[in-house]
Amino acid sequence: MKYYVTTPIFYPNSSPHIGTAYTTIAADALCRYRRMRGDEVYFLTGTDENAQKIVRTAEALQQSPKEYIDEVVEKFKEQWEAFAVTHDDFIRTTEERHQKVVQRIFQQLFDQGDIYKSEYEGWYCTPCETFWTESKLAEGKCPNPDCGREVELLKEESYFFRLSKYQEELLTYIREHPEFIQPISRRNEMLRFIEGGLEDLCVSRTTFQWGIQVPFDPKHVVYVWLDALINYISALGYPDGEKYKKYWPADVHLMGKDIVRFHAVIWPIILLALKAPLPRVVYGHGWFMSKEGGKISKSRGNAQNSFELIDRYGSDAVRYFLLREMLPGADGTYSEDNLVERLNSDLANDFGNFVSRTLAMIEKYRAGILPEPGPDTEVEREIQALALEIKAKVEQCWEAFDPAGALEQIWRLVSRANKYVDETAPWDLIKQKDQAERLKTVLYTCTECIRLLQLFLAPFMPGVPAKIAALIQHNADADHLDWEDTGRWRVLTPGTQIRKGESLFPRVDLSQWEGEPVTAAENTAPDAGAAVAELSEAAAIPETPEFEPLKEEISMDDFAKLDLRVVKVIRAEKVEKTDKLLKLEVEMAGELRTVVSGIAGHYQPEELIGKAVILVANLKPVKLRGIQSQGMILAASHGSLLEVLGVDKELPGGARVK
Ligand code: MSP
Repeated sequence: MKYYVTTPIFYPNSSPHIGTAYTTIAADALCRYRRMRGDEVYFLTGTDENAQKIVRTAEALQQSPKEYIDEVVEKFKEQWEAFAVTHDDFIRTTEERHQKVVQRIFQQLFDQGDIYKSEYEGWYCTPCETFWTESKLAEGKCPNPDCGREVELLKEESYFFRLSKYQEELLTYIREHPEFIQPISRRNEMLRFIEGGLEDLCVSRTTFQWGIQVPFDPKHVVYVWLDALINYISALGYPDGEKYKKYWPADVHLMGKDIVRFHAVIWPIILLALKAPLPRVVYGHGWFMSKEGGKISKSRGNAQNSFELIDRYGSDAVRYFLLREMLPGADGTYSEDNLVERLNSDLANDFGNFVSRTLAMIEKYRAGILPEPGPDTEVEREIQALALEIKAKVEQCWEAFDPAGALEQIWRLVSRANKYVDETAPWDLIKQKDQAERLKTVLYTCTECIRLLQLFLAPFMPGVPAKIAALIQHNADADHLDWEDTGRWRVLTPGTQIRKGESLFPRVDLSQWEGEPVTAAENTAPDAGAAVAELSEAAAIPETPEFEPLKEEISMDDFAKLDLRVVKVIRAEKVEKTDKLLKLEVEMAGELRTVVSGIAGHYQPEELIGKAVILVANLKPVKLRGIQSQGMILAASHGSLLEVLGVDKELPGGARVK
């Protein structure tokens, strides 16, 4: 059977980190399991490169977008390699093979009347790359609970996609296909959302050039989500590539809960409009949260560097931890302490210890030779039955995209096997001459359990099978394991030379690193939501920002000389032939003033319009590039970060700042 799995394509506006690693590791585990079953798996991941926020981040770093993303994309690829991820393809949306398909689909949707030209007037959240209507905003800010950042007012000629036309068809589809959106909580959420009514979606932008051009109207670029979703078929060579014919529809699109909406509404409607089959499942998992409760993310600074984590604990242990902690329909908690705790208790104590004690006893009592077992007794039959039951349950968990549930089942075998050793006490059996046969059965059975665990755990911790193969001389070709072997019993060949080897998962102690946690993921990119800028045209972005020293003391009278006023930005435009200057028209108590500000490298003109910012109103006017600048806009800066200061409630232009 073919089996097509995808992850979201990641925005390369910040390096990968432990929060964004989960989906890809879960997808990899699923694919490995499916390959063990003999399925013809196709596994796709990639990067979503045509987003406006990428341009902003690159600008803030004074790099071209292409230069910037090429570096970050490499980091993504390195991270997947470090986590032993076995994707078959990595698609980048700046590749021609993708762009061609997006243009073709845009053209088709336009030709058949599903896309039409109109004018968009509304709000846009650049960090989320999402359009919002006024009524959806939360106190004027982005309503996404994890965002809450400033939105920008857009008014531009745009193309629209007729989502509303397909609303009923989509609802019928979802109702008739209970497996389409999973888990059930997300399905219910989506049904409510769609039943609330779909509005046509703005699918093009004209205020910047970065992106895929609308083929018949090149001043427009395609909205990044329409572009991004198409990756799932462009990578397969839609519409007539061999891979498309073989693998589409996807068996599952895996993703975090925040982006289910795009995959459960926009994506199926694109496919309905193209008369292409819909994916079998859209699965939204929870987020990894920090102990303090916030989402693990770069912008919050709570995401640890995954390369360092892998160096400390090994890729298998980190994978195990992530896969074990995320329960279906819930968020997971991530902390290095939890990771160490799980590693020590589950991997070192339970699993690793079972393997070492078994193999040490074979070495000690049987000179390292796997004995020929005597007849199974009731307890061995019980263990065999348990293994079969676990096999069936693990299969169900994989069907339900629940790796944590599968691990919980597998640990029933780990616990039972440990208990078996305690109950049968081989160290006593060795002392009793008439128990020699029994001892052989016990040692053999324990080694069979190791073999079963080698197979059960292979999808989760891909390094484990080869390590175990080296000890029990079985399944040496660790990349071609057969899932059906988990249902077999007494597979190992007696007489095999066993090796005790090193312990699979040595205990770790955070004090090994003097209690120092792994450092935060290196922030190659400032958070695109916090627009970054610098005030003066001449100021360069320092490599390692230091806080500026305090200036000398001034008197109240000195301070009172400053006349600071709230002003409203009415117009904003770039000053021609400069990279850094914006010309702003601001309103102050009915008076209009022109101010030239060195923030163009970081703020788009349109995101300033409507903002209430602070002006030094009594600064002597200066001429910059031939323009008389009547005052200075205040901003706070640190290193490459800079934010224009403002007020956000009711104060009118002209209000005094004291
Ligand atoms: N580019 C879009 C996806 C387009 S797919 C056609 C995007 N990219 S993203 O880089 O912002 O996020 C990618 C995925 O990472 C999302 O599924 C998101 O839920 C996931 N995660 C980001 N932080 C996460 C955690 N802390 N925990 C779990 N998943 C997290 O959205």
